[in-house]
Amino acid sequence: MSRRKTVLDIQAMKGRGEKICALTCYDYPTARIIDTCGVDLILVGDSAGVVFSGFDNTLPVTVEDMLYHTRAVVRAKPDALVVADLPFLSYQVDMREARLNSGRLVKDGGAEAVKLEGGKNVADIIRGIVDMDVPVMGHIGLTPQSIHRMGGYKVQGKKEAAGAFSIVLEGIPLKLARKITAELSIPTIGIGAGPWCDGQILVLHDILGICDKYSPKFVKKYADAKTLISSAVSRYSQEVKSGEFPDEEHSFL
Ligand code: KIV
Repeated sequence: MSRRKTVLDIQAMKGRGEKICALTCYDYPTARIIDTCGVDLILVGDSAGVVFSGFDNTLPVTVEDMLYHTRAVVRAKPDALVVADLPFLSYQVDMREARLNSGRLVKDGGAEAVKLEGGKNVADIIRGIVDMDVPVMGHIGLTPQSIHRMGGYKVQGKKEAAGAFSIVLEGIPLKLARKITAELSIPTIGIGAGPWCDGQILVLHDILGICDKYSPKFVKKYADAKTLISSAVSRYSQEVKSGEFPDEEHSFL
């Protein structure tokens, strides 16, 4: 019988040299499906703001948005560890807000851990959240909430450190990611950071080929869901307009 993974399970995978498979998810039906596919960690990412809600970047995402998505995912009772993203302006201003918003994502959202972006600049905040027993996942390199400071989404080469149960390395040259992975005792989860991280994460909508708005080099498309959805909906529309649907089979006699 399977059971919900904990942060200790994720950390133990690094010790065993077992790769960690992480994926984003924002809703109940998808969480039910992906939890049967060998995903160890579900990130309810603030990428939802872009691929789910249609914003140009993640900055407009609110704690209420993250609570909504996290609750939907948790309702699927996944065995994967559920980590909820702290959105922009929910942890940067002061410790009280950072702790309160982290606590809400765990208490009201049902997540087991939170993720936040930044290195040394957020180390104290990470410690403050961990001190109230909420595990934190760090995120360094190309941090989408810093889009205006970085002048766009570009590969980052800076080494930063943060204390957390695990850390996302995004848009980092592969040799640097290998070095960070070797030096850290906590698992590194790469996205655009090469093959030597302890695990990998991608945005679900990117691997399914639903969103063609933005496709970075590191994304591998495993399906063409956009074509699948548009062909199903076009057939439905044609059948409704031609009167072919509904037929007797789909009606009450
Ligand atoms: O919000 C998100 O989906 C993320 C991942 C891409 C790591 O931060």
